[in-house]
Amino acid sequence: MDLYAVFGHPVGHSLSPRIHRLFAEETAQQMEYERREPPMDGFAEALAAFQEEGGAGANVTVPFKETAWDLAEQRSERAERAGAVNTLICGESLYGDNTDGEGLINDLRNNLGVGLAGKRLLIIGAGGAARGVLAPLLAEQPANLVIANRTAERAQVLAAAFDDIGGVEGIGLDELDGERFEVVINATSSGLDGEVPTLPESIVADGATAYDMVYGAEPTPFLRWASANGAFRTRDGLGMLVEQAAGAFELWRHIRPSTEPVIETLRHDTR
Ligand code: ATR
Repeated sequence: MDLYAVFGHPVGHSLSPRIHRLFAEETAQQMEYERREPPMDGFAEALAAFQEEGGAGANVTVPFKETAWDLAEQRSERAERAGAVNTLICGESLYGDNTDGEGLINDLRNNLGVGLAGKRLLIIGAGGAARGVLAPLLAEQPANLVIANRTAERAQVLAAAFDDIGGVEGIGLDELDGERFEVVINATSSGLDGEVPTLPESIVADGATAYDMVYGAEPTPFLRWASANGAFRTRDGLGMLVEQAAGAFELWRHIRPSTEPVIETLRHDTR
């Protein structure tokens, strides 16, 4: 039976094993999917041991995505750009891909009915989570894309690394006054501390969608803020998680699982 695993630290709460088992059941694939939690400096060794065991592929989550990028012998173009790998295929050589951006876009488009073409798009945050999705977001050809970050310089550096793909600008959160966006995506880690970045109320345009890349049983602090400030639709990152997993599953098994029933099941579980 083919063996897969998710590597992270911590990884105990990862929903990936549950998601991939549901996909495998639905598509009648014979596969095992485990959690692996190497020490913080032990990812390369753990991955080598997994390959020795005959591991066929892996998902990689925080904090190992950048190390996975380094270790991959070949990379997809989107992984190359992201500077991070969330999906590994263990073949003759180790192949790294990144399905995070695809996951976000599929959740927005297929599950929420929100296309990005021609829209004014704001990404809040300029860390790894933002970087991982920028190239696929720009490929959707939004009217413009603004990256706003607490530390303005990080947003500027990130924007400069992607401005050959499309119109993207990096600014500080304090420069958002008077701006309005149709899609606002939170890619900061602030919600994990129960905080919301300081944002002007005016950024949420009429009919806007607010998306938080993190998820939880309760609406996240950012989504509560967005609802209170006029967002028409809010959505947390559970759908993105399932969609990025579907992208990985398809790379490994060459079959596309249905995501909607899995999102439903997980919503039900986490309530
Ligand atoms: P990740 O890989 O999750 O993106 P990261 O690289 O540490 O993690 O980046 C965290 C992001 O969340 C950064 O954009 C950070 O802003 P700074 O670059 O100014 O540090 C942002 N962030 C974290 N806590 C925040 C808060 N309370 N308010 C606003 N932004 C916050």
